[in-house]
Amino acid sequence: MNATIDLMKAHRSIRKFSDREVDEKTLKSIIAAAQCAATSHFVQATTVIRVRDRQKRQAIAELAGPQVWVARAPVFLVFCADFNRLASACSIHDSVVEKGWAEQFVTATIDVALLAQNVILAAESLGMGGVFIGGIRNDPQTVCDLLEIPDQAYPVFGMCLGWPAHDPPPKPRLPVEAVLFTDRYPKSHDQTMLDEYDQTTNHYYLNRDSKLKDETWTRQMADFMSRAIRPHMKVFLESKGFFLQ
Ligand SMILES: Cc1cc2nc3c(=O)[nH]c(=O)nc-3n(C[C@H](O)[C@H](O)[C@H](O)COP(=O)(O)O)c2cc1C
Repeated sequence: MNATIDLMKAHRSIRKFSDREVDEKTLKSIIAAAQCAATSHFVQATTVIRVRDRQKRQAIAELAGPQVWVARAPVFLVFCADFNRLASACSIHDSVVEKGWAEQFVTATIDVALLAQNVILAAESLGMGGVFIGGIRNDPQTVCDLLEIPDQAYPVFGMCLGWPAHDPPPKPRLPVEAVLFTDRYPKSHDQTMLDEYDQTTNHYYLNRDSKLKDETWTRQMADFMSRAIRPHMKVFLESKGFFLQ
């Protein structure tokens, strides 16, 4: 349709990177463009930490899986949902942040996600690639300790960025008819459509360039959704001052 939409449809996570560095100017340009994402109530509740220190990077790569691409990527960013800076802004006016509302948690987390998606898209527009790293939430307290992330802020996910050293095919998404509806939520989810999507994803998994597997989307979800994932998150978020009320 146009170059932007083509770029968005060409997205695929990149986990192998060439040795080429990403210079500071390029990274700052990407972040500055990404900051133009919409932000709820203009709170701009995101802080991004670039992890350059080898030991810190290695520790995060380990706790995230281990995931070797976290250690090897030219750039590794940690995206924090952040009300800490807002507390400083409020104190200028002798105002105090109301702490711990679920709505604040939602607001800050959405802000982070919007900014981060802009980051990966801006990077892709320059020929770079990357991958989000939710694995840092395996041990978010250690990430906070390593990066000195204070209360009223938490690490939502990381992101590897760099110049691609592989060219995987894009992963097929659900058909738009499965996610877009008019005026009301569907009475049921079209089983035939899910069966067809299973065939599409099975073909993708059997034919991609690495980690071939006989898998389908519904089977993957049946496994993933029936497990408790990172059950420590509620207590962790409460300890950081989120999600108290
Ligand atoms: C919030 C978030 C966390 C993710 N965490 C990881 C991760 O820890 N490791 C990883 O290799 N990929 C991770 N991914 C990448 C997804 O697996 C990937 O986006 C998805 O399988 C779709 O593939 P694609 O990005 O190639 O289209 C994450 C993606 C998102 C949005």
